[in-house]
Amino acid sequence: MSAGGIGNIKHVLVIGSGAMGSQIGMVAALAGYRVSVQDIAEDMLTRAKEQLAGRMQANVAKGKTSAEDAEAALGRLAFTTDLDAAAADADFVIEAATERLDIKQQIFERLGRLAPAHAILTTNSSTLGSSKVAEASGRPEQVCNMHFFNPALVMKCVEVVRHERTSDATVETTLELARRFGKEPVLINREIPGFVANRLMGAIQKEALALHSAGIASLEDIDTTAKTALGHPMGPFELMDMVGLDVIQFIAEATYAETGDDADRPHPAIADLVAQGKLGRKTGQGWYNYEK
Ligand SMILES: NC(=O)c1ccc[n+]([C@@H]2O[C@H](COP(=O)([O-])OP(=O)(O)OC[C@H]3O[C@@H](n4cnc5c(N)ncnc54)[C@H](O)[C@@H]3O)[C@@H](O)[C@H]2O)c1
Repeated sequence: MSAGGIGNIKHVLVIGSGAMGSQIGMVAALAGYRVSVQDIAEDMLTRAKEQLAGRMQANVAKGKTSAEDAEAALGRLAFTTDLDAAAADADFVIEAATERLDIKQQIFERLGRLAPAHAILTTNSSTLGSSKVAEASGRPEQVCNMHFFNPALVMKCVEVVRHERTSDATVETTLELARRFGKEPVLINREIPGFVANRLMGAIQKEALALHSAGIASLEDIDTTAKTALGHPMGPFELMDMVGLDVIQFIAEATYAETGDDADRPHPAIADLVAQGKLGRKTGQGWYNYEK
């Protein structure tokens, strides 16, 4: 088997219609591709469909998209629970299902059987390198990570991460597809926990937490410094609250499980907040209080 080139790609299949999958599907449809978004949960598909229609309406009102383009893009987007039918003529797959290895392995095993031989199979996972699902697909050379950032309709970065057996053709086609999606992809030459973006973010967070717990500066002042001295759009504590402290803790735990390095363990201050149900913006309280 060998990976199809960019010209072969007509139908993009996105698996999972949650926070990431729904917006990735919209990105692909806005770029002119026929898109199927597949999920096992009918209610998630309905919610995704409604949210995307609302989002497109808002973009039209703001003048970001023309009404014709939005309508055409929504017309290219199909929502389904039927993986067999959606995979049968998929040229490129982006898996964005729940972050669990057993679920992803099962999906890649099915895709290996169902998708055309030229189809490239990618995963949007933030913590699982694609080598963990590549063998199950029976076509490891055509598998890599294609890691979008939240919200996928807005964020420009896509990390394309190759594993040891990913072919050059797979990497090139995936990078080019991301460009056609209007993104600025970066290539990561080998699997490493956190890839590049989350490692950079993790390093800044670690230092911010150390400065704060040593009483060097308040969290407000640390956030202000990141913004006014370094030009970051938000400070590390504000960013943690936006991402969700439970997600931050999960990423640290997954990294620690891979590296065994004590420095990668979740910071006790994060674990404390999570134990109190203070998960950030989504619960109204994290480092900051959003209830006021
Ligand atoms: N949320 C983020 O900020 C973010 C950022 C980058 C990457 N990611 C990655 O994207 C993936 C999805 O994350 P999310 O935040 O969108 O999750 P989510 O919980 O919002 O959505 C996951 C969806 O997958 C569906 N699903 C579960 N099992 C399935 C199966 N077997 N087949 C089809 N669909 C299935 C669920 O019904 C749900 O709708 C994860 O791998 C995560 O690591 C998340």
